Amino acid sequence: MKTEKHDAIVLSSSDEKTAQKEFVDYFKSCPLPDDEILPNLGLYLTSKNLSRILFFYEIYKKILHTHGIIVEFGVRWGQTLSIMSALRGIFEPFNRHRKIVGFDTFEGFKGMGKEDGELCECKDGSFSVSSAYEKYLDKILSLQESLNPISHLKKYELVKGTASETIPTYLKKHPETIVSLAVFDFDIYAPTKIALEAIRPHLFKGSILVFDELCDDIFPGETNALQETLGLSNIRI
Ligand SMILES: C[S@@+](CC[C@H](N)C(=O)[O-])C[C@H]1O[C@@H](n2cnc3c(N)ncnc32)[C@H](O)[C@@H]1O
Repeated sequence: MKTEKHDAIVLSSSDEKTAQKEFVDYFKSCPLPDDEILPNLGLYLTSKNLSRILFFYEIYKKILHTHGIIVEFGVRWGQTLSIMSALRGIFEPFNRHRKIVGFDTFEGFKGMGKEDGELCECKDGSFSVSSAYEKYLDKILSLQESLNPISHLKKYELVKGTASETIPTYLKKHPETIVSLAVFDFDIYAPTKIALEAIRPHLFKGSILVFDELCDDIFPGETNALQETLGLSNIRI
């Protein structure tokens, strides 16, 4: 099933979608005073959405004893980056090396091919975002950072553009990069393979790699890319 806009996929049932729509209507007509909205955001959490936050909480704990940056390949609306930033504020507010870097076209998929199968019915441009969204996200991440210690040091970066160009360019500019955690969520084969190949020399024994679509028949490209680069028998999943 596709979303109303931006040609993204959702796997919710129609009953779930109806309930979610009602939830959104209530959210939009929120009667809370402005200064009480953010502290009460939990009011609008569903088990599904909370589970995503808890998942990244568990993942973040795994990198606490390691050194290096967090990178997300496929940012879209940027929720993961924001959650990571909040977790850094909780767990290691003074770790200036724990940069959080996100790569995205901010114009949707780029580079779909035969390795991505046909089930998803997506095309280049699917999973796009609202126009100039990266500017809005940048501001959100900047506000997020301003509410944590050592906020005068910018510790996040949004890299807009096609992965095949932006990832190698970023790593050339930052040869000191060590990747502690990489979240793969491009969904599709070509940019995932490029990202894996590019970061490989920046990984260490113990780097954590997160894949959103592993063993996923709707988006087989991510598994194909992992198989061809690191090889499934060489890694613990
Ligand atoms: C499923 S969305 C990411 C969702 C996000 N991680 C989240 O948790 O909500 C996939 C993203 O990958 C991006 N993308 C796909 N192909 C790309 C490419 N070749 N270069 C850069 N970004 C790409 C799309 O623009 C899209 O925002």
